[in-house]
Amino acid sequence: MKTNYTILTGIAPSGDGEVHLGNYIGAVKPLLELSQKANKVYFFIADLHALTTIQNRQQLQKNVENVVLSYLSFGIDTEKIVFYRQSDIPQHTELQSIFNNVTPLGLIKRCHAYKDKLQKGIKEDGVNMGLFSYPVLQAADILLYDADYIPVGEDQRQHVEIARDIAISFNRIYGDTFNIPEAYIMPEAAKVIGTDGKRKMSKSLGNIISIFAEENIIRKQIMGSYTDPTRLKPTDPGHVEGNPVFIYHDLINENKAEVIDLKKRYQEGRVGDVEVKEKLYQALLKKFSKERRLYLEYQKNPEKVKQILEIGARKARMDASYKMMQVRDVIGISNKYSFFAYK
Ligand code: ADP
Ligand code: TRP
Repeated sequence: MKTNYTILTGIAPSGDGEVHLGNYIGAVKPLLELSQKANKVYFFIADLHALTTIQNRQQLQKNVENVVLSYLSFGIDTEKIVFYRQSDIPQHTELQSIFNNVTPLGLIKRCHAYKDKLQKGIKEDGVNMGLFSYPVLQAADILLYDADYIPVGEDQRQHVEIARDIAISFNRIYGDTFNIPEAYIMPEAAKVIGTDGKRKMSKSLGNIISIFAEENIIRKQIMGSYTDPTRLKPTDPGHVEGNPVFIYHDLINENKAEVIDLKKRYQEGRVGDVEVKEKLYQALLKKFSKERRLYLEYQKNPEKVKQILEIGARKARMDASYKMMQVRDVIGISNKYSFFAYK
C-alpha cells in the first residue's frame, strides 16, 4: 500500500436501508479503521445508484435517512471523512455521460449485475439503462476524486476493475487525467452469517439483526435465530462452533467471561437457548447504546444532519469541480468562447 493515500467508498441505500450487524462488521468497522490511516477519505451515499431498484419516493427518502443517520451515529469523523450524498454533486452524472463515450459496450455486457438479470430470464429489453450504466456511474464516483484505494466487498471487485479500465481508456485518448484506483477487498471470510444459519446476513434475505431498530424488533430477530438443530432440550449438550448465536456473542459481547461461561454451560447442557439469546440481546443493546441514542438525537435534529451533509457536499464539490474543469478542457468542450464555471 502507498503511504500517502486517498480512499473512497460508497454505500447504496438499497433494500429497506436498515443497517445490520453484518454491515457493521463488514463495512462500518473496517471503514472506521482504514480512515484513521488514510490521508484523505471520501465516503458517500450512492442515492442515484439506488434508483435502479427503488422507484418509490417515500422508500428512497426513508432509506437515505436510515443510512445517513446510522453512519453518523457510528461516529464517522466528518472532520476527516468527506461525507456526502452522491446526488448533491452533479459532477458525478456529468462525468458518467462523458465516460459513456469511452466505455465499450462489451465491457458492460460482461458485468455481473447485468448478466444476473439476463440469467434470471429478464429479457435485454427489460433491463433499464440505469442498471446497464451502473458501473459507469460508479467509475465516475471513483475517478472524480483521484482515489487510490476503494474498500469494497468481493462482489464489487468487477466494478472497480471497470473504473480502472475506463480511466486507462480515457487517459489513452486524452492524456493523463485520472488516477488509476485499486480495489481494497474486505475478506470474504469475515462475512457474518445470517440468523437463518445458512446464508450471509443480508437485508434482502430477511435474516438480519438490526442495530437501530426498536428494541422489540431486535429482540424478535435474536429470539428467532437458528442455533444448534441437534439440541432438543436445554439438558442436551450443544454445539458452539458455527452456532450463529455464539458467533454473534463473540463479535459483540464485551463481557468475555460471560461468553466463556455460556459456551461451557451450553456444551455441558446446563443452559437453555433462551438464556443465551437473552444475554445476546442485552449485550447488543449495551454495545450499541451510545449509537442508538445518537441515532434518535440526529433524528430529532434534521437541521444538524443537513448542515453536516452540506459541509461534506461543499468539500466534495470543490474537488469534483477541479477535476471536471480539467476534463472539460482535455476533451475539448472548453474553447476560447467558454465562460463556464462550477459554483
Ligand atoms: P445487504 O446484503 O444487507 O444488502 P449491502 O450489500 O448493502 O448489504 O452491503 C453493504 C456493505 O456491508 C458492503 O460493504 C458489504 O460487503 C457489507 N456486508 C453486507 N452483509 C455483510 C455480512 N453478512 N457480513 C459482512 N459484511 C457484510
Ligand atoms: N455499488 C456499490 C454497492 O452496491 C456502491 C457504490 C456506488 C460504490 N459507487 C461506489 C462503492 C463507488 C465504492 C465506490 O455496494
